[in-house]
Amino acid sequence: MPQGEPEARWLTAALSDTPIADEYRFVDSALRQCETIALVFDPALHPPEVIDKARRWWLAAMRTEYDSASTFIDMATQVRQIAEPLDVQTVVLRMAQDELRHAAICARVIEALGGEAKIPAVQLPRAGLHRDCTADESVLRTIIYGCCLSEMVNVVRLAKSVGEVADPFIRDAFRLLLADERLHAQFGFHYLAHRRAWLEARPEIARSLGRYLRYAFAQLEQVMGAVPADGRPRTDAERAIGLPDLTDLSTTFQETILNACIPGLERFGIEAGAAWRRRSLTPG
Ligand SMILES: [Fe+2]
Ligand SMILES: [Fe+2]
Repeated sequence: MPQGEPEARWLTAALSDTPIADEYRFVDSALRQCETIALVFDPALHPPEVIDKARRWWLAAMRTEYDSASTFIDMATQVRQIAEPLDVQTVVLRMAQDELRHAAICARVIEALGGEAKIPAVQLPRAGLHRDCTADESVLRTIIYGCCLSEMVNVVRLAKSVGEVADPFIRDAFRLLLADERLHAQFGFHYLAHRRAWLEARPEIARSLGRYLRYAFAQLEQVMGAVPADGRPRTDAERAIGLPDLTDLSTTFQETILNACIPGLERFGIEAGAAWRRRSLTPG
């Protein structure tokens, strides 16, 4: 390799082949909220082109899950900077580990579908502090955006997938992911409960969070709630193997925000409904 050229790095499902891997297996089984996949994927149940498409979808999911670990690693740094209780710090780090375990679940599905679970290790996303507010409000914004909104939408979509998918192996994989993502969404509201008295004593912060939400809702809608230009309804075979209905992305997003996120946030004095109605990509 020419000197100075960066080495190409890949993330796979391979472990280190040392006692670290034994410790990893121990952590994996200790953190797992439900039984692991016991079934074997049967390719005879699906047309080959649909298996192909599903393999590509799970590779993209492996990338997303792997990247999501960074969200919680950065969140952990933020909660440590304001000396949140040890249970809060520990569970945020647990959620980072969950996302790594999710990447491993995706890898297992990709291999079962006949693929190679290998993704390029590119630059990871970084979530820094919100610079236009205090460190406490920055943590609240990060957790509201990451857990109360994003993970809540993920939970609803995974629950839908568990109900719709026909393939028992894929259903088991969705079930494993859902069991953890449920915690990731609930964590946000548990954290708000922990900050309730602090927030009640500072109505200006609750108002500021409402202003932030106007931007956060609009931004997240672009990322998670938009139907792609080439989106078309699924075929029955695509639904059977658990591929998502891309034409449903806007509906599931809006329904989750309106029926779960907004009522949940308003319990803490944050005017989320008004923020949603006035959502705008112009910050501030
Ligand atoms: Fe995940
Ligand atoms: Fe998650």
